[in-house]
Formats: sequence, structure tokens, C-alpha cells
Amino acid sequence: MERTKILKLLKSEAALEKVLIKGWVRTRRDSKGFSFLEINDGSCLKNIQVIADDLLANYEDIKKLTTGSAVTVKGKLVESQGGGQKWEITADHVDIISLAPDTYALQKKRHSDEFLRSIAHIRPRTNKYGAAFRIRSEMSYAIHKFFRDKGFRYVHTPILTGSDCEGAGELFKVTALDLENLPQKDGKTDYMQDFFGKEANLTVSGQLSAEMFCLALGDVYTFGPTFRAENSNTRRHATEFWMIEPEMAFCDLESNMDLGEELIKYLTAYVMEECAEDFELFAKWVDKSLMATLENTATSDYVRLPYREAMEILQKSGQKFEYEIGFGKDLQTEHERFLTEQHFKKPVIVYDYPKTIKPFYMRLNDDNETVAAMDVLVPNIGEIIGGSQREERLEVLETRMDETGMDKETYWWYLEARKYGSVPHSGFGMGFERLLMLVTGISNIRDVIPFPRTPKNIEF
Ligand code: 4AD
Ligand code: MG
Repeated sequence: MERTKILKLLKSEAALEKVLIKGWVRTRRDSKGFSFLEINDGSCLKNIQVIADDLLANYEDIKKLTTGSAVTVKGKLVESQGGGQKWEITADHVDIISLAPDTYALQKKRHSDEFLRSIAHIRPRTNKYGAAFRIRSEMSYAIHKFFRDKGFRYVHTPILTGSDCEGAGELFKVTALDLENLPQKDGKTDYMQDFFGKEANLTVSGQLSAEMFCLALGDVYTFGPTFRAENSNTRRHATEFWMIEPEMAFCDLESNMDLGEELIKYLTAYVMEECAEDFELFAKWVDKSLMATLENTATSDYVRLPYREAMEILQKSGQKFEYEIGFGKDLQTEHERFLTEQHFKKPVIVYDYPKTIKPFYMRLNDDNETVAAMDVLVPNIGEIIGGSQREERLEVLETRMDETGMDKETYWWYLEARKYGSVPHSGFGMGFERLLMLVTGISNIRDVIPFPRTPKNIEF
């Protein structure tokens, strides 16, 4: 007989003569003549109750079952006598697959997020993290569905690259050279002798590759891991994180903002509808205002605000900010959160940033001072999307590369795309973990990634 997932059993329309489940014991409670086992198999938040009566041949062993032990249960699905659940299983057999010693880290009490981070190999077995990682899986699917339904093609952009898309130098170098004995030339490391015959690193963004594909396939997106050797130990920054990056040909900044807004609305509505059971755990126990925040995010019209006006609002706000404000200063999390949480009380798209604080590839505006950049800011998170219209004019792009100190030779292929068939095009990057923080109310990025990588942390 085949195993049935608990998720499916709990949705059963009628009682069943025979069922077989496999899972882990969450709790065991004994009463006269019976042992009640709460079994979870990870397919959903809810456990199923199994009733083992003392006529079972191995009843003495069943009575020793501990939290975390693994079992196979064969029995009947019957309507539950007790309250709280519709179905339960009366067992004909309970086979013990493995018995967990009572040193098992997860006991029947609340564990702190900090403690659970130290046992990241075990934490997905808890209600909260099980729900978080099921939502992570569902949201990945929803993202592919959103783009596919709109006719976007999915491109796999390389993880090993020879370029620095953001030009910020926050790169992890990749080398096959012997670090204890580096080949030298003219007093410097000779990368000619390295694996690729030049310097290589892990990608910080798939954008430049996605741009090449959008100029061939039209609307495309990438969805993959990116890496930043940025030493910022905040609750919103991870060293390895996943990014969704659409890139659209024949597209200006406004349509780019439309797409970003539509994507976030779609995903926030999706989680409330399609992940209802897991989502409710977060709305009830993690962030009491989550439901209201997401309803607002899913339905309101996002504010569209030029950077200059954003600065004016901040200046006139009378708020004390840690970081300086004024034209040419980057928006910090505190500013972003003020705009979206306190001032507008809904998502805000800030656009037309000064060119001095943005990368070389963003399209220069006619004022010669700002670029066609846009960041989508949402409550509790701040920036969730960063994007722009791309500079499609070869000479302007070359000038910007010179100004920002980019090596034009390395990017010869990127420049060539502006020579042949160049068109206005736009795109953005959405941080997948920031999205998950938004939809779960989880406030630390370390808790939405299975095995987070942050400065000084690569355990597991
Ligand atoms: O604003 P960013 O740096 O933009 C880019 O990388 C562009 N090349 C994207 C593009 O236009 N195709 O990053 C995009 C998003 C941010 O808005 C944020 O949500 C997320 O990626 N992000 C991070 N998430 C977690 N940890 C970090 N260290 C992140 N850095 C950026
Ligand atoms: Mg950004």
C-alpha cells in the first residue's frame, strides 16, 4: 500500500478503511488503554492524531515513542471523537522506523529564533519554520507562474562571471590558484595562469546577461542566487540571496514600475489565498498586523514619488534621522520606512535618483543629473525592488562608464549590444528573501533562508 501525505488525508471527504502514513512523532500522550500520537510528515502545518490501543502487539514500544521519532502507521481514517480535528487514524500497526533519544533539541516549548538559528539543520521541523519554508517553495512557483502567464521566458544567467554588474566591488573572487603560492607577474598576481585566464567572481546580479537575452527573446527573467561580499550585518542583508530579475525590451521606466507593482500585488494576494494555513500562523503569532499590511500591499495604488520630492518630505518631516538627507544622499532604511510606514502608509516607488549614487547602466535623464532609476519600498522592509530603464545610447553609456571608472574592454559585449539593434529596455531586481520577510512578517532575513550565509557565518 502506498503512503498518503497527511495534507491529503486531512482534506478527505469521507472516512477510509485503509490508510498508510509515514512521519515523525510530535507528541505522545497515554491514557487508559490508548496512546495518542500526534504525527507530522511536513506536508502541512497540521498533525494527524493516531490512536494506538493497547491490543497492538508492540504497545509497550509505542508507549516509549519520543518526540522526533519516525514511524509508519497503518490504520483507518475515521471521524474524530475529540474536538479540534475532523479526522484521526485508528492504528492497526505502528512500526517504529527510528527512536529519537531524549536529547533531541526540539522539546515541547517555544524556542527562540536565535537558538533555532544555531540548529538550522533541525529548525524546519518546527511549526514556524516548516510553514516559512513551505511558503518559500510556493512563492517560487508563484513567481514562475506570474512571468510565464505574461509570456516572459526564463533565462539561466551565469553564477561565475568576469564582470561586476553593480560596479560596487562587493565581489567574491573565484580562483583555482594555490593561495599559498600565487603566480606573480610585475609584482601582482598573474590571473593569466588562473582557471579562466582572467579574474573571475560570483555574480552580484544576472542583469547584464538578462539584458542580452531581452534584446533577443523580448521579455525575459532570471531567478537565481546572487552573492555580495558586503560586510553589512543587518537584518535585511544576506551574503547569498536569491533575486528575481525581469528585463523587458521596448520598455520605459513607467512600464517597469507597473510591472514591479503588479508583481508584488500578485504575490501578496497569492500567499494569503494559496498558502492560507501557513500564512495564518504568521498573521496570528508572528505579526498581528500582517494581514492588514498585506491587504494594503495587495490592493492599494502605490505612490510614485520623484527622489527630489522624497527628500523634501524627509526634510520637512521634523523627524530625527541617523543618516543625513539631501540631494545626492542615498535613502537609508530609516528613510524608506518613514516614507512607506508613517508618511504614506502604503508602498512607495521612488524614482529619478541622482546619477552619482547609482550604477553606470541606468539611463541618464535630460537634466543630466538624475537617472531613470526606481526603487519600490514596502512597509517593514524598505527597499524590496531596485531597477531602472537602461542606457541604450552607446555614447552616453561610454561616458557614464568612464565617469564611474568601469573598464570598457571587459564590457565590450555589453557595449556592442548598443551598437546593433539597441532599443529602450528596462528591468529590475526583487530580493526573494525580502519578499518572504514581507509576506511572513519574519523580521530577520536569516530566518527565511534555509541555511543563511552572513559575515562570519557559514555553518551547515
Ligand atoms: O538594488 P539592487 O542591488 O539591484 C540590482 O542588483 C540590479 N542589478 C537589479 C536589476 O535591475 N536587474 O538589488 C535588487 C534587490 C534589492 O532591492 C533587494 O531587495 C535585494 O535585491 N538585495 C538584497 N537582499 C538580501 N541581501 C542583500 N545583501 C541584498 N542586496 C540587494
Ligand atoms: Mg538597490
